[in-house]
Amino acid sequence: MTQNHIIHPQDFLIDKAALQARRSYKWRHYPADVLPAFVADMDFRVAPAVQAAILETVEAQDYGYPLRGGDRPHLPLATVFAERMALRYGWTVPAEQVIALADLVQGINAAILAFSEPGDGVIVQVPNYPPFRESILTTGRKLVPLEMVRTQGSYGFDLETLEAVIDERTRILVLCNPQNPTGRAFSRAELEAVLVFAERHDLIVLSDEIHADLLYPGARHIPFASLSAAAAARTVTLSSATKGFNIPGLRCAVAAFGTDALLKRFHDRVPSRVLGSVNHIGIDATIAAWTEGQAWLDGVLAHLNAMRDHVAETLRRELPAVRFHLPDATYLLWLDCTDLGIEGTAHDFFLEHARLGFSPGEAFHPDGAKHVRMNFATSKPILDEILERMVKAARANQR
Ligand SMILES: Cc1ncc(COP(=O)(O)O)c(C=O)c1O
Repeated sequence: MTQNHIIHPQDFLIDKAALQARRSYKWRHYPADVLPAFVADMDFRVAPAVQAAILETVEAQDYGYPLRGGDRPHLPLATVFAERMALRYGWTVPAEQVIALADLVQGINAAILAFSEPGDGVIVQVPNYPPFRESILTTGRKLVPLEMVRTQGSYGFDLETLEAVIDERTRILVLCNPQNPTGRAFSRAELEAVLVFAERHDLIVLSDEIHADLLYPGARHIPFASLSAAAAARTVTLSSATKGFNIPGLRCAVAAFGTDALLKRFHDRVPSRVLGSVNHIGIDATIAAWTEGQAWLDGVLAHLNAMRDHVAETLRRELPAVRFHLPDATYLLWLDCTDLGIEGTAHDFFLEHARLGFSPGEAFHPDGAKHVRMNFATSKPILDEILERMVKAARANQR
């Protein structure tokens, strides 16, 4: 298949029986009668170039310790990442400042350990991807919340309020852009305000940009470290092909340090041996995704865009009490079900009464029990079944 081949949903959709036969967390976590719409996997086949790269390693049975580019087996990965950042965003990061990790959350944990002490404050947007909260609390740091507030038609955050709650022991700001679960892709003005704040308080910024490839029309991704040399000097950018190209189980991510000095500071506290290493299959799949996967990604994004609009129209028409904003990016929808009048958590309600497996809102926000996060990266028939079950259960409850 050439780069220019137009990808249609039939090229990547998988039927329900095949999905149910998978060994994935998404399709095995809940009982078989529950339709899963939670963890950030897509119900899609991968890009042909990704599959071909994996098959090549498998057919050659090339399972030894990897060695590429001398003693840094992941240097080609770092190089492709750096080239991609330069091409897409005009952001220059030397490949030598990019390290490979088996998973991105490991990078967040390691950077928290490297750049702060127990008891220090770590700012994180709330609601947030639950492992961020876990990373902060299990390392004995203090979680300092930056609330994502609902604005007219979107979500924003208020740095003035944050100013009032931080102190001189606040060391790190975890930025998730595009944000999980609200789907916001932040504007340059918003990011610049974060930078001014980070400079004023001398914060290290851990910028998780894992969802950056999944942008809807009109949205733009700006790597935080690309704002200025001063921004880069205090930023660790974390990324991978796992969300955009649907290979989360292959365990391969990168952490890009804005300067050599920042990388050195990191390694002074976290020896590379502590981080584990990546494998041939993860490296090759990621490189294939980033260099040959664009036609596939364009096809997937067109489908996700249609599904996003379909969910939005259906919920607005059938369940107007559910409040949400359209995401700028990603296939996740943060649904406020407060006005449905559910007793108990929204997650448990839909699990029990609709046999739907959403992500529980309380995992993303301490006050989020009346929210759920929905994953709409599936086929239209499965999505329709999800919506039908959801509407039916919510209406029966309202009566
Ligand atoms: C914002 C964010 N960061 C990190 C991850 C997971 O990355 P990894 O599996 O590489 O730890 C996810 C997965 O959904 C995510 O949404």
